[in-house]
Order: sequence, then C-alpha cells, then structure tokens
Amino acid sequence: MPKSISAQVLPACLRSVLIIRGGISMTKPSAKSELIEVSSNPLTFHLHNSQVSYVLGVEDENILAHHYYGKAVDHYSNLRRYPRLMRHFAPSPEDIETRDFSLSTLPQEFPGAGGADYREPGIVVQFPNGSRTVNFTYDSYTISDGKPQLAGLPATFAQEYEAQTLTVKLVESDAQLELYLSYTIFRDLPVITRSTRVKNLGQQPVQVQRLVSFSLDSPDNELNLLQLNGRYAQERNVTIEPLNTGIKILDSKRGASGHTQNPFCALIDPHATEFSGEVFGFCLVYSGSHKSIIQMDGYNQVRIQMGINDQNFEWWLEPQKSFQSPEAVLVHSEQGLNSMSQSFHELFLNHLMKSKYSHQTRPILLNNWEATYFNFDEKKLQDIIASSHDLGIEMFVLDDGWFGERDAPNSSLGDWVVDRKKLPNGLKPLSDYCHNLDMKFGLWFEPEMISVKSKLYQNHPDWVLEVPGQRRSIDRSQFVLNLGRAEVRDYLLERMSYIIEHADLDYIKWDMNRNMTEVYDAKLSASEQGEVSHRYILGLYDLLERLTDKYPDILFESCSGGGGRYDAGMLYYMPQTWTSDNTDAIARLKIQYGTSLVYPVVSMGAHVSAVPNEQTGRMTPLRTRGLVASSGDLGYELNPLNLLENERQEVKLQVKWYKAHRRLIQFGKLYRLQNPFETTRAAWMFVSDDKKEAVAMYFNIFSEASSPLHMLNFVGLDPSQKYSINGKYTAYGSELMQIGIYPLTQNDGDFDSAVFELKAVE
Ligand code: DGJ
Repeated sequence: MPKSISAQVLPACLRSVLIIRGGISMTKPSAKSELIEVSSNPLTFHLHNSQVSYVLGVEDENILAHHYYGKAVDHYSNLRRYPRLMRHFAPSPEDIETRDFSLSTLPQEFPGAGGADYREPGIVVQFPNGSRTVNFTYDSYTISDGKPQLAGLPATFAQEYEAQTLTVKLVESDAQLELYLSYTIFRDLPVITRSTRVKNLGQQPVQVQRLVSFSLDSPDNELNLLQLNGRYAQERNVTIEPLNTGIKILDSKRGASGHTQNPFCALIDPHATEFSGEVFGFCLVYSGSHKSIIQMDGYNQVRIQMGINDQNFEWWLEPQKSFQSPEAVLVHSEQGLNSMSQSFHELFLNHLMKSKYSHQTRPILLNNWEATYFNFDEKKLQDIIASSHDLGIEMFVLDDGWFGERDAPNSSLGDWVVDRKKLPNGLKPLSDYCHNLDMKFGLWFEPEMISVKSKLYQNHPDWVLEVPGQRRSIDRSQFVLNLGRAEVRDYLLERMSYIIEHADLDYIKWDMNRNMTEVYDAKLSASEQGEVSHRYILGLYDLLERLTDKYPDILFESCSGGGGRYDAGMLYYMPQTWTSDNTDAIARLKIQYGTSLVYPVVSMGAHVSAVPNEQTGRMTPLRTRGLVASSGDLGYELNPLNLLENERQEVKLQVKWYKAHRRLIQFGKLYRLQNPFETTRAAWMFVSDDKKEAVAMYFNIFSEASSPLHMLNFVGLDPSQKYSINGKYTAYGSELMQIGIYPLTQNDGDFDSAVFELKAVE
C-alpha cells in the first residue's frame, strides 16, 4: 500500500542492479491477459487496470511477498526488492543460513503461524502431533478469465470479460497442506477481491483454528482507521481514529454480522475527505461472526486481516478436504470516501446482488408494524390497504403477528400457519385484495427462530441451539433454530413454500431478532462443536439459495431488528435491507449516511413513521420525514387512516414525487455533501449517469441564533452544463459546484429540510 515507490527507497545495491539491467526488459508480460501481468526473475504478479494496481512476488526463499497496493502503476518494471536486512530477535525463515533476512519485517501475502513472523498469523492449524506451526512457501499459480464462485458461500461474480482471477498455490510440505490464495481484479472498478482455501493432503485430519480471508501488509503507517460501529437502533456510526502501535480488533461474536460492528473498515489518509485523499476500503462478504485485525508493529508496519471470527471456531479438515474462507472485497480510492462508496455500490449492484430485482426500481410499500403491531384483523388491514392505495402506495407488507397464536413476541415462532382467529379466511383474500387494487402483497417471516410457546418446539425441542443441561440465554422470548441441520432447513423451506404459493406473495421480509448464544449441537461430537456457528451460516446460505432460486419473482428484504445483519453476504440473496428499527428522521440521517459508505442506496429500506417517533419521541416535520425516507427505498410505517387530511395530501405528493425521481435516487450516483457526524447539518445528492439530472437534499438538524451562513456546494455535475434549479432559476454546473447556494434562510427551524431538483437546460 505504499503511495509510490521511487528508486530512493531501494537499497543501493539494487539501484545499481537496476541501472546495470537498464537495457533489458525485466518484465515478461504474459500473453494471457492484460489485467494480470506476470514477470519472471523474480516471479511477480501485477494485477492492474486503469485505476488500481496490486503487486505480489516470490522472494528468493520462496516466500510470497506483498509489494504494492494502490493507484494504478501504468508502466511497471518489476523493480521492488526487499532489502536483505538482519534484524535482531527476528529469525530468518527455516533453512536459511545467511542470517540476512528476517520474516518479521517482510510484507507478506499470507503469514503462517509459529514461525519467524511474530505478527498476527493468517492461519492457525493444529496438527495430529499437537503442533500449530505452519509456514507456507510458493508452489505455482493459475490465471483464469472471470471469477470462479465459492462453494456454498455468497461472493461477487463476473463474466469472463469483466474480471480475471489469479490463484496462487502455497504449500507446507512437511505438514502436507496446500493453501490457495485467490485474487480477482475487475476490469472497470478499483476492486480486488480475495479469499483463501486450505486443503489437507495428509493422512490424518487436522483442525483449522483460524483462516483469514486476506492478510495485507503495508509499510505505510500514516493512516487512520475508519469503522462502522453502533448498537440496536443506532447502527453504522462512522468512527475515525489514528492507527497506533498494537492490535485493534473489530469483531462480532454474535453469530451474525451484528448491529455493533459492521464487517467493513477502511484505512484512510489522515487528511482524506469525502472527495480527496487515498482510501483503502475492506468489506467481508459474510453474515456470521467476523473479525478484523489491524496491527501496527514495532517497525510501524501495518497488517490488516479480515475473516471468520476465530473465537470458538475450529474446523476439522479430513484428508483431501478443503476449507474455504468467505470473500473479502478491497476497494481503493484516490479521491476520498465518496469515490470508495461509489465503487462498492457499483460492485454490489452489478456483481453481488443476484436477485432479478437488483436493477429494478423498488415499490413504495406500507408496512403495518408501527401501525398496528400485533393487533389487527382482516377488516382493519383491508382498510389500511385501501387507504394506502388511495395515497399511491404500491405494496402492502403484513409484518409480525399473522401466524400461530402470535399476539405478543413471546410465542409461535416456527409455527408458520395462519392465525385463523385474526384472519379467518387466511392470507389469500388479503393478497387478492391487494392484487385487485394493482398493489403487491408482502409478508414477514422470522424463519431462523423458535418460541418455546410453539407447536414446533413441542415437536422438536432439540432443534434449538443450546448446551443440554445448561442455562439458556433468552432474548425476546425466543431461541435460535439450528440451521446447520438439514432437517431444520427442509422444514423451513417446505413451510415457506406453502405460504408463498397459497398466499401468492410478491415480497418477503426476512427478519432475525436475536443473536446466538450457547452455540452447541448435540448431534455433533465434542470435538466438532467449534464448527457449529459457521455450519449455521452455511446452512442459512443453503436455505436462502434454495428459496431464492425456487422463487425468483419474490422481492426479498433482509432484516435483523432493523440493520443487525446489513452485510454483503445477505445482499447476495436479498437486494434490500431494513436499515434500522429507528425510523426517526433525524437519527436516520446518521444511520443512512454511515450505511451509504458501503451499501448502495437501493439496498436501504427507509420508511416514514408517525410522530412523536416511537424510538426517540421526537417531532419532525412530515416534509423532512418524507425526504429522509426518500433517500432510500421509500416506504411508510404508520396507519394511513390516522393521517389528517392535509397530511394525506402531503403524503400523496411525496409518493408522486418519489415515483418521478426514484430511478435517479435508487440508481444514480450518490454524493454525500455534508456530514451529520461532524456538523449539525446533513446533505447528499443523486446524479444521473449522464449528469443531466440531479436531486439534492439538505437537512438542518439544529438551528442556532445568529447562525453563520451555511453554503451548499453541489458535486458531480457537468461544469459547462446549464441546469434549472427547482424550475425557478438556472445556473451552470461549475457555479453550483464551486460557488454553491444558500440552501435555507437563517430562520429555518430545527429539523427543517430543502430539496433541489436539477435539470439540464439548453
Ligand atoms: C424487528 C423488525 O426490525 C421490525 O421492523 C419488525 O418487523 C419487528 N421485528 C417485528 O417483530
């Protein structure tokens, strides 16, 4: 990751080597591809496109070293060699007599364990003799067009012409292990994806105790760490801190990616802004317990790793079997955070979200959760549907409470049978009612959970994740079903298929309202218990794969008490996520801002709810609630029958306005203009690819007396293009971007907002 490399950074001996060899081409570009260039003497791989370069090479000792990750290097001559330095208390790798080389100081592509590198290992394996020492050396490589899929795991995908993949095989011959490091570079994006697979060639099983998805070393320590942390109803706060010597761990041990720590982080230039500075973003395509390790050693070198959390993780690897890590996505930006976000968005939209809806505009929905909670019947719902239809809403979603005897959160999860007391005629009449109004009909499920008060629990108490005989932690009166077991998944697939077909569903909200505890499976042996958490996630992915393949016409939205499992793994199956249970417009400014750092606007469910807000008690104007929710997939989460006539008229206008702008908002380029984590204002805009159209939104969080004048400068416009602004006046793109406008007057109150519609004019 060094920003650049000059001859000065080479030891003098190598500089002369370069000069001596000046006339000889040191690179032998392979005919195979222009995205991955292979040079010999020493063997080096340069993955590059017009935006990014990533260089790795084989050192004399057959160790795979990291050379560079950053801005594209247009002309590369394979110049970097690591200085032969002997460091005290830093041994040479095995069998090297000369003592001029210390593994601890070498930037490596994939560090082993128990050897001469004292930094964090990328892999920990326990062998039959009890040893955990493992050190890999280079063996061979392959290059293929496109990108192979990862067995059983969600991952980015690419056509043959869109990407190329380098797979480097490393071996630990004594221990009889093979390690496959996979690197995919996308042709048109500053993106490299990485994953790791380990294979046991020995005669006996070995136990994998850690396998990171990638490890990346950098001599560059002038970096800040940006992370997205939070809590229930306040997810994905942007936190930035300087890197310091030592180890920083960002993780989840919850069996889910979690509300508290998103599986994403970035190393950024300390002066980086939204639009300037170098940024390295890292995102794990995984929905279970995860761990990012950021280590700065005594030489101020930085190592970053990401992968499955190794706490309580052990995986038995039988002879000839492999273990595959999840994929990690590495995005590079030279132009600050916004450009990093745009790359993540583009990648996820075009190469991750496999749903047929990924590029389709999403319907405006009304969800009855905050409108009725568990208290509804057919008539009440029909009235809500009719009233929503009159507002122009396109889909009705029946949330929790339609099944078993579910009048409170303490029963019936697992009994996916319609509650005939509430809905004597079942779900079909409601679905027909919607369809007759030309609306869609959606339904809530929480498939991964079970209530003790349920028929399913009476029949299958052993399906729960628990340690028999030990006290169980209860959350929301429910337990987690063990999705690692095939019979549990088959039951869920059968039950959901029945409801989907009988109720003629168009949409499913897939909720998950507690995290794992007492992770144990009585059907597995004592030594296999470290596999339960990951087996669960593989089981979840298997169920989602089968369900989404079987019902490709259903739009799925994932949810976990709001945004508790907002990750790239879930986005692979479900192209949208309920961003947060916090529907307060002002709180949402931060939540949606933080979320947008990684995840596309079209993946963010955002609803207008009633005031005072259920989560914060705050009163905010309907206009501001509408604009904040219109910054994602607009929905309403209130009882439309309770709206006053003037509010109904306003909602009708919001819905109409959103329909006219939704393609731009959901699929345009997002530019974040003002940061609610740093100021008492927020602003962002959406710009069409041809720059002919844009919408900007500005939010005044708190007013101040004698307020300074706050400007709003637009971004991403065509400088020489004239735009009309709200149809009232015109200005050139360069004026709007460089000079800006005053978005509000001085006397605007708390929570006020403004919207600017820009259209190219002659
Ligand atoms: C949590 C979700 O985030 C809410 O939107 C709602 O669906 C409830 N669960 C229902 O129990």
